[in-house]
Amino acid sequence: MQELLDKINKEHLPRHIAIIMDGNGRWAKEKGEDRLFGHFHGVESVRNIVEGSAELGIEYLTLYAFSTENWDRPEYEVVGLMELLVSTIRKEVESLNKNNIRLHVIGDMSMLPAYAKNELDEALTITKNNTGLNLVMALSYSGRWELLNAVKNIAYEVKQGKLAVEAIDQDTLQRFLCTSGFPDPELMIRTSGEYRISNFLLYQLAYAELYFTNVRWPDFRKENLYEAILDYQGRERRFGKTGDQLQENQVVS
Ligand code: IPE
Ligand code: IPE
Ligand code: MG
Repeated sequence: MQELLDKINKEHLPRHIAIIMDGNGRWAKEKGEDRLFGHFHGVESVRNIVEGSAELGIEYLTLYAFSTENWDRPEYEVVGLMELLVSTIRKEVESLNKNNIRLHVIGDMSMLPAYAKNELDEALTITKNNTGLNLVMALSYSGRWELLNAVKNIAYEVKQGKLAVEAIDQDTLQRFLCTSGFPDPELMIRTSGEYRISNFLLYQLAYAELYFTNVRWPDFRKENLYEAILDYQGRERRFGKTGDQLQENQVVS
């Protein structure tokens, strides 16, 4: 693990890493256990990856914990996940604080049961002055929900005469997203072998480097994160330009 860590160029870290934490259910099934057993073990990975990201000095870590579509799962699983969320936050908030980690939440909070919302609000308040890693939990979140919400709120401002249609630009749109104030993720990791975005950060991932691994989320640890970062550091990010243009810029700068 140390060897992998030493290979990482600390001057060229992604500022923002986003992760689709997938595969808890399959991990549990493969062990002959219930899906909730997988979610329970997934929490250990969250702890490990949050710690690893903070140690590296990553500024933003966004974790996709529950999608808008996940509300349609069997009721026992949804309830189990909500209870796990609340008990985890309750247990972890002190250590988040100790490690100077600030918690953020993105998603449709109006869908959450009151007890979960209250617990989250409390954790947000307790950690709000922390200046280290920004841990962004995507909860009851989907990219389409977020964009729809942004469009509605922009329309509302126009209707109220606060915003002129001609003045709407990309910055306006960014401002109305749940992630306003956060940089776009440079690296998006999805675990457990699925090659799709599943309604995650549809706008923000425009130029993210995508990294897929077969490792199931409950098995994902710091060394897997280091591997993903190393892979990212080997990519050529072009943003629409040609490879030659990028080389020229490097010579000049
Ligand atoms: C990811 O694991 C966690 C959530 C979506 C809440 P899954 O529960 O999707 O696990 P698989 O994909 O069924 O294995
Ligand atoms: C995406 O995983 C959502 C989260 C990890 C929270 P899903 O397991 O819900 O996605 P699909 O259904 O495989 O696309
Ligand atoms: Mg899944």
